[in-house]
Amino acid sequence: MPKILAIDTSCDDTSAAVVRDGHVLSNVIVSQTELHAPYGGVFPTVAKQAHKGAIQSVISQALSQAKVRVADLDAIAVTQGPGLAPSLEVGIAAAQVFAQNHQLPLIPVNHLEGHLWSVWANSDEQPTFPALGLVISGGHTFFVKVAGFGEYQVLGETIDDAAGEALDKVGRLLGLGYPAGAKIEELAKQGDASRYPFPLPMKTSGNYNLSFAGMKTSAKNLHTKLTAERPLSQSEVANFCASFQKAVFRAITYKLEKLLINEFTEPVEIWLGGGVAANQTLRQTLTNLVSVTSVRVPPTIDLCRDNAGMIGLVAENKLKHNPGLLSAPLQAIERKPNWPITNVV
Ligand code: KG4
Ligand code: ZN
Repeated sequence: MPKILAIDTSCDDTSAAVVRDGHVLSNVIVSQTELHAPYGGVFPTVAKQAHKGAIQSVISQALSQAKVRVADLDAIAVTQGPGLAPSLEVGIAAAQVFAQNHQLPLIPVNHLEGHLWSVWANSDEQPTFPALGLVISGGHTFFVKVAGFGEYQVLGETIDDAAGEALDKVGRLLGLGYPAGAKIEELAKQGDASRYPFPLPMKTSGNYNLSFAGMKTSAKNLHTKLTAERPLSQSEVANFCASFQKAVFRAITYKLEKLLINEFTEPVEIWLGGGVAANQTLRQTLTNLVSVTSVRVPPTIDLCRDNAGMIGLVAENKLKHNPGLLSAPLQAIERKPNWPITNVV
């Protein structure tokens, strides 16, 4: 079984991992959250510099934590896209130099395909097809029919903000810091989810696309109204979190229910990946849907968020399907900031 060193620098986390036989032996993630906090989002040039400063040590840590020597590696994998161009560039450059120096094959991987397959980390089971992938993160929210490895059909996606982004923006409004998804989940547990009704978007769109921008504007307007005379009490913040989180998940399940009926003939397994997949309420909500046999999630929180472990898993699958990659001559790869998951072969 080949040992693969994987690198991901798609956005604001610098990550390297070692993967072997479907198992993530190490998965080092250096987060830049605090660096970007003053900007209220990811600042690309700051991200690039931070990746440059961290990448070599992250690679060394991934190797030492996995107890793997460079000489034991069979290949190196790197996220080619999608993502922030200046961030992608750093990981790709580091991977290319590493591959060159150590005469290793270099396998480019799609970051979204990584989130999709992250649910299979450390599992010895075999996937069954078709499956329904849900990637829900701070940058992406989409439904994908998985007919096999590399065979993807996007059935619906957000036309504006990602679900995690909407949660983060409302979290900012409530003074919960960034990113806010996990905090909203925590506070929502003490709140009344029916206290503030938010609109259900895209109800009559006739497709499986999603939209969170209107919901976010409603939240902003409601918050302005509620705080006109005094700040929200703790219980009001909890109610706000519970209500908004419910609205975001309701928007997803509304489309999901239609899609399951119309696009699948048999009950299917959901593969839930991306940062928002860490949310227990979402996991439970999806599990309760009719036509869903089970909800498969990444085995750890680190494998939900941006990480290189998931990139290594996809690279390993690519090798299984195309062993010739191991002896392919090293070629320069270009970053692909807008690379869709439907075009990975
Ligand atoms: O996958 P990820 O680390 O980065 C992107 O590719 O975007 O996802 C980050 C997103 C953020 O929006 C964050 O607020 C959200 O995932 N998130 C959560 C939870 N933990 C992280 N959202 C809801 N519930 C959580 N427990
Ligand atoms: Zn991601």
